[in-house]
Amino acid sequence: MCGIVGYIGREGNASDILIDGLRRLEYRGYDSAGVAIFDGDVIDVRRAEGKLNNLEGEIRTAPIEGRVGIGHTRWATHGKPSERNAHPQRAGSVVIVHNGIIENYRELRRQLEADGRTIESDTDTELIAHCIEQSIDHGNDLLAAVREACGRLTGAYALAALSERDPTTIVAAKNGGSPMILGLGEKQAFLASDIPAILPYTRNMAFIEDGEFAVLRESGIEIFSSTGAPSPREFKTVLWDPISAEKGGYDRFMQKEIFEQPRAITDTIGTRIDETALDIDLDGIALDPAWANDLSRISLVACGTASYACMVGKYMIEHIAKIPCEVDLASEFRYRNPILNDRCIVVPVSQSGETADTLAALREGKRQGARIISITNTRDSTIARESDDVLYTHAGPEIGVASTKCFTAQVTALYLFAVKLAIVRGLLDRDERERLLRELTSLPRVVQETLALDEQIKELAHKYFKKSDFLFLGRGIMFPIALEGALKLKEISYIHAEAYAAGEMKHGPIALIDENMPVVVIANKGPLYDKLISNLEQVRARDGQVIAIATEGDTEIADKANDVIYVPDLGDFLTSIIVSIPMQLFAYHVATRKGTDVDQPRNLAKSVTVE
Ligand code: AGP
Repeated sequence: MCGIVGYIGREGNASDILIDGLRRLEYRGYDSAGVAIFDGDVIDVRRAEGKLNNLEGEIRTAPIEGRVGIGHTRWATHGKPSERNAHPQRAGSVVIVHNGIIENYRELRRQLEADGRTIESDTDTELIAHCIEQSIDHGNDLLAAVREACGRLTGAYALAALSERDPTTIVAAKNGGSPMILGLGEKQAFLASDIPAILPYTRNMAFIEDGEFAVLRESGIEIFSSTGAPSPREFKTVLWDPISAEKGGYDRFMQKEIFEQPRAITDTIGTRIDETALDIDLDGIALDPAWANDLSRISLVACGTASYACMVGKYMIEHIAKIPCEVDLASEFRYRNPILNDRCIVVPVSQSGETADTLAALREGKRQGARIISITNTRDSTIARESDDVLYTHAGPEIGVASTKCFTAQVTALYLFAVKLAIVRGLLDRDERERLLRELTSLPRVVQETLALDEQIKELAHKYFKKSDFLFLGRGIMFPIALEGALKLKEISYIHAEAYAAGEMKHGPIALIDENMPVVVIANKGPLYDKLISNLEQVRARDGQVIAIATEGDTEIADKANDVIYVPDLGDFLTSIIVSIPMQLFAYHVATRKGTDVDQPRNLAKSVTVE
């Protein structure tokens, strides 16, 4: 996710307004930032890698005067974070800021280079600027040029463009990408990725819908449909206070991030499934077939929620890629003298990329000659910088201490990794590739459908929120999901919660069962369903209260559980992500009903950079 802001007005200093707006969007990404401001003569572009402070300092040293401009804070998807890849991107007289992923960027780049255009950056965004410039060269005004350029794009975008040849307008466009909000002031017009960026200047706002275009002038804003017909829009008064605005209207960051998961998974998949939908491009990570077939083991190392993602990843790697795979808690791995060599891959998995134990595990793997391929959500983090290769999740910044969207993004990345390894090792025929990649492609939609259970889960949470202990049970790939469900609940509601492999119940934990012990049983229709039903009956036979997570269409489970949450079935692997959604929502609603600090639970920190 990136942050976009734009301003045009009779009064006001565009530079101050843009920087202030970007500051309020920094939670959307902070790899690099930039502004492009028309100073009455030319468009002055300033960009800086790293935090917004770097750009702000540069502009303070050499101020820019002007009343029209666009700005951007970047969460890199294409092209490493650098000044060269920062936005705004420029092509001739055109500057552009963009949020989203252009899937046909390779073809587009080939076309533009064939037309003799020189591409300066690694971004897909620059290509859009060239398309707009080409159209203006053919005599179109900025609106027509942006419309024509967007007609050449496949993928999601929310963008804003400015041209020296038409500096009295900013043109915005949106299709499937993140939101684009418009704001109207007194002889002023604004645009932004999110409400907080412009809330201090106006409360009079409207949204651009998919396929629409907007023309911003100091005199006002016009919106047009994809056919060019005017698309009048009612501007409404936004009543949010600035803090709640940063939560996008949600009550807490954790809630917002739970509901951002379709986007986070979409962005993590990104353009990694190739045009044939039969192969995966892991951002160029080289996996030589001979080397991949000679691998002796893969060690996944992480802490907390990330370690549970690794446990899910283990099932995927062993079942799909047929490679022995171990999961270690990083804090244990670093001290247990693991036996590694150059036929091993060590995969540190870390949202922050700064967790001390996981970093130490990386260094132990490197010391023993293993190849380090990390999975992280944070560009240029220490773990990323010390890895041989990095497979980034693109979940956007995760503010809530309890990890949600980064967990499902990590599992998505591990699935991509497992399938790619299987393809490289020649283990999948065409049908299997099609099925595995089709399930992945439908994942964001199915997650969206599962989020619709929110109200039902809220009621369930309010029924059980006073309980003092919970058990979570799962088998196979769902055992780590049970662990994650227990961790979510305990870390934000402070209720004691444990998880067990369901088959372990009779080896001790069943002694805990009585009428005061709610037991969450993951009983999806999978290979171990019948065994789960018998585990569930063991609990009920001892008056335990069973909350079952079952698969839609299951007609047996209703009379075996006190409560049932039905979720869609997305096959043996990705149903694990689907089941994690009700776990997150249950923990969230129990905690909010209890009144704990959901976003910043006691004793916890978002990134544990100490041992
Ligand atoms: C997750 O809800 C917790 N906040 C915690 O377990 C976290 O997953 C763990 O500290 C690992 O953090 P990392 O992904 O940044 O390495």
